[in-house]
Amino acid sequence: ISLKTYNTFGIDAKAKFFVEVNSLNDLKSALQLKGYPEKFILSGGSNMLITNDLNALVLHINLKGKEVVSENDDTVRLKVMAGENWHQMVLYTLERNYGGLENMSLIPGNTGTAPIQNIGAYGVELKDTFVSCEAMHIETQTLKTFSKEECRFGYRDSFFKNEGKGRYVIVSVTLELTKRNHKKNTSYGAIEAELEKKGITDPTIKDISNAVIAIRQSKLPDPKVLGNSGSFFKNPVIGAEAYRKFSQQHPDAPSYKVSEEAYKIPAGWLIEQCGFKGKKFGDAGVHKNQALVLVNYGNASGDEILNLAYKIIEEVDHRFGIRISPEVNIIK
Ligand code: EPU
Repeated sequence: ISLKTYNTFGIDAKAKFFVEVNSLNDLKSALQLKGYPEKFILSGGSNMLITNDLNALVLHINLKGKEVVSENDDTVRLKVMAGENWHQMVLYTLERNYGGLENMSLIPGNTGTAPIQNIGAYGVELKDTFVSCEAMHIETQTLKTFSKEECRFGYRDSFFKNEGKGRYVIVSVTLELTKRNHKKNTSYGAIEAELEKKGITDPTIKDISNAVIAIRQSKLPDPKVLGNSGSFFKNPVIGAEAYRKFSQQHPDAPSYKVSEEAYKIPAGWLIEQCGFKGKKFGDAGVHKNQALVLVNYGNASGDEILNLAYKIIEEVDHRFGIRISPEVNIIK
């Protein structure tokens, strides 16, 4: 079957075998199936670039459900199954005035894949509300609960992208959210500006969510309209010495101090400086409002997008001596 509607880049790659996973039992049986070339776990398909047809048995994770596992006057623990759409789940929490996810509104993809790259936006990351996740070990089909420490979250990084890669299927995620005294984070410039524009001085978590939605809609293309995978690259982190030289040569460049020893440079800025913003190469392109986002104008193949990515990496390296790397999973 074609995977075009199963990946937000809209790449028309084919899967040799495909099975829909609607329960933990389905998952277990599917993982036990013998005689297939290999198994490929597919969830929201929002953070991958497929560059070939998949000679694999694709397991589409469609586990649904949300339940409160515990609560007190201040906080609530919500267990969410992996196949729940992230943004719908965020809206569900806001309807109940549960705080913590508002800055991460409108992120594409499903809840089960959020821990893999520790999704984040506007000053908040998944790890800030994360309690644990349950995952099925692919080899033995046993369930294991991973604590926050065991997940080893970093910037767009976790255990599941490193040692755990290809070994587990995350089946649920448990988050701890606030019921009152919400820890609101409006420090991000764009949020402040958006709230000010609306004359809001004491925002509710719903106001913050609405501001984030407005910002994202103005910068990031809707995958239903224009295929994309959000930020294609990670923002590079450079050392203090490299940063000193860089900022001397480029005094107008934006940057964030991560620690005494590390500075993050927005890859979008580097790419824009190289003249790629808004450029089209066949059906592959660089988004006009955010250079960090590569887009598929219709029928680009995964390889066309990947070639554009390589071209950008080389050009940024040539111009700035900084090597940026993809954030999305490249499926070869
Ligand atoms: N910038 C440019 N040109 C561009 C894009 C950005 O000069 O084309 C500059 C902006 O002027 C700004 C800076 O880069 O000073 C930062 O831009 P922005 O606020 O758009 O954030 P970002 O660093 O480009 C990151 C995340 C996004 C997340 C936003 C907001 C990564 C790889 N990306 O982007 O995450 O929404 O911050 O928190 O960390 C995603 O992961 O898919 C994603 C969209």
